[in-house]
Amino acid sequence: MVAYKSKMVERISLPSREQRERNLEAAGYNVFNLDAADVFVDLLTDSGTGTMSDAQWAALIRGDEAYAGSSSFDRLESAVQDVMGFPYVVPAHQGRGAENVLYGTLLSEGDVALNNTHFDTTRAHVANQGAEPVDCPVDAAHDPDSDEPFKGNFSVERAREVVDEVGAENVPVVVSTITNNSAAGQPVSVENTRAAREFADEIDATFVIDACRFAENASFVTEREATFTNASVADVAREQLGYADALVMSGKKDGLANAGGFVATTDRDLYEACKQRAILYEGFPTYGGMAGRDMAAMAVGLREAVEEAYVADRIDQVRELGAALEAAGVPIYTPTGGHAVYLDAEAIFPTVPAGQFPGQVLVCELYREGGVRGVELGSFAFPNTDRPELVRLALPRRTYHREHIEHVVDTAAAVLENRTEVTGLRIESEPEIPELRHFTAELEPVPS
Ligand code: F0G
Repeated sequence: MVAYKSKMVERISLPSREQRERNLEAAGYNVFNLDAADVFVDLLTDSGTGTMSDAQWAALIRGDEAYAGSSSFDRLESAVQDVMGFPYVVPAHQGRGAENVLYGTLLSEGDVALNNTHFDTTRAHVANQGAEPVDCPVDAAHDPDSDEPFKGNFSVERAREVVDEVGAENVPVVVSTITNNSAAGQPVSVENTRAAREFADEIDATFVIDACRFAENASFVTEREATFTNASVADVAREQLGYADALVMSGKKDGLANAGGFVATTDRDLYEACKQRAILYEGFPTYGGMAGRDMAAMAVGLREAVEEAYVADRIDQVRELGAALEAAGVPIYTPTGGHAVYLDAEAIFPTVPAGQFPGQVLVCELYREGGVRGVELGSFAFPNTDRPELVRLALPRRTYHREHIEHVVDTAAAVLENRTEVTGLRIESEPEIPELRHFTAELEPVPS
């Protein structure tokens, strides 16, 4: 059931098809290079792109911009304590800032970090410490048709194999990313979180939860995990997060804010160490790279994120988009995850050769056809990994309406209908860091 009405609006428009063609070419067939004003429905990311509530805007006006001892930090700290159950909070400018603070404190050269699936910035931060990021997804994660309820889970079995190979003393960090963004936004069960925690204890590692989408994850748990069907989203969130020694959080997701993030922990020594690194890279520990007003808005957002009406509305919209795409015959990853629908580009374009980025071709066609912007999360974004060619359509929180969803579905259906007319893409120029290639590389069509 719809839980909101609009109170502020932003004008959008659809450029002509000719203009969209020109924009694509000028962007080097990389939609990160488009002007946002040229995008009609922007599903590039759910990160920092959502709509704030009136309560958040009210809190923002009262933001305390003091360098030290800001009351907005106190509000953020209280929200993290109440909603997530963690006493110590180190703010950061966004999730990757928090990753730098936490992983820079916990990891050294030659270490191995285990994660159900590293998100791209997480992978890059682990590598930046000279450590090796190793993914431990469950087998079902990469099967777009499996109807397992928790395809985002951390595979303890796989993790044990890695530890047997490299030695427990070289694995100081075990991470569970909830929901598992790089595995189609699939949820992680509480039972699996407990098992990952026990495994981390066994090898004497710090157990971290990447909590970006903790509320969406908790909502799936109340739907799918028998023990929790009568529990509230707020209670599940606290229980699940409670297994971690530390959280790394991007407030741009389930903080319902446009900026910000933090590390939270129960470990006083880890807190003190993180604070020192935060001062170096982020800011004084009562602002950490955020404006006071952004901390104030996030403090309210964190509390709203676990409200039943909010999270039901959120999950339902993503599910609705997935169901409508399926009804239109567009192959998608199922079940749909928390924040996005992932399209199966290989199934849509069987004639585009694997080396010619079928996912990126799909991203370009969605823009060409309907001014819709998604993001490729296949062989273009993750070079040298064996991953399905997925395109993510991420829904900003509380932002788009049913008409927008219908436009996206009509656009994808039209792309599918004209599927035989497309050609592949090849890279024309790319940056030095392969983990970050998809943000700035430029491409060109392969002549047919
Ligand atoms: N961890 C996960 C699981 C994420 O999805 C993200 C960001 C981050 C960490 C980093 O947070 O952007 O605040 O620095 N994901 C965005 C996305 C960018 O589009 O999925 P950040």
